[in-house]
Amino acid sequence: MQSSLARIDTQRIENLDNLTSSQLPSGPKLNLGCGPVQPEAWVNVDASLRSLLATKLSWLDGLLVTTGVFRPTEYNKRTTTYHNLAKGLPYPDNSVACVYAGELWEHFEYADASRLTKEVYRVLKPGGVLRVCVPDGPTFWGKYLDLYRAEMAKPPEERDAKKLNAQTQLFFNDICTHRQCLMSIGHLHKWNFDEVQLADLLQKNGFSAVQRMAFHDSRIPDVALVERSDFLIVEGVKGGTASA
Ligand SMILES: C[S@@+](CC[C@H](N)C(=O)[O-])C[C@H]1O[C@@H](n2cnc3c(N)ncnc32)[C@H](O)[C@@H]1O
Repeated sequence: MQSSLARIDTQRIENLDNLTSSQLPSGPKLNLGCGPVQPEAWVNVDASLRSLLATKLSWLDGLLVTTGVFRPTEYNKRTTTYHNLAKGLPYPDNSVACVYAGELWEHFEYADASRLTKEVYRVLKPGGVLRVCVPDGPTFWGKYLDLYRAEMAKPPEERDAKKLNAQTQLFFNDICTHRQCLMSIGHLHKWNFDEVQLADLLQKNGFSAVQRMAFHDSRIPDVALVERSDFLIVEGVKGGTASA
């Protein structure tokens, strides 16, 4: 008899088969919060200070690189679109084939992430795909609990707080409260996602066929060009009939 895990996997593959890559509508592919990941075939959107400098004042950016003040950057006028996604998406309704967002959704407070999810739904063509990759809360906190339980299993006099200190510090110093420099968007997380919350966020903003996906396994054929983190990945489809 098939195990429930095998059934889920088969179901997932059937779902993917039902929406093969050839059924992805034509149109622009958006790579939101692109950072240094900027393939030519995608519209790579970012709003870091460096992307602003390199796209709007490229001569100054070039000068600062030449004089050794800055290191060279992947941001440039040709492959980077400077835009603050907190202001929504500057694209018409039903105009985009797919959207990839790698390690971006967690940079918004929940209500803003929800607004952006809704914006993505608006701009996608029917049959278009949203794929969101975020750090997985349960993985992080599971590690914290494992460390805690390991220490608590020891007699009190043998316990050592170092690893718990480090894990806690990672959360407060590196994930959540990294100071913004010169108003840079920076590495500042404002929400903690898990599969339940992320799938719910997509579903309640209209997406269907929402499911967790494996690294590089996607309805988006060339997702490997933009996806570099194997974290929590969830995909959804804008319902309706796909039209090229
Ligand atoms: C952790 S990096 C992810 C880079 C890349 N997508 C990846 O998967 O490695 C997050 C990126 O999102 C960008 N970002 C954060 N908030 C943004 C916003 N409101 N509008 C546009 N870009 C934003 C940051 O500038 C940064 O480049």
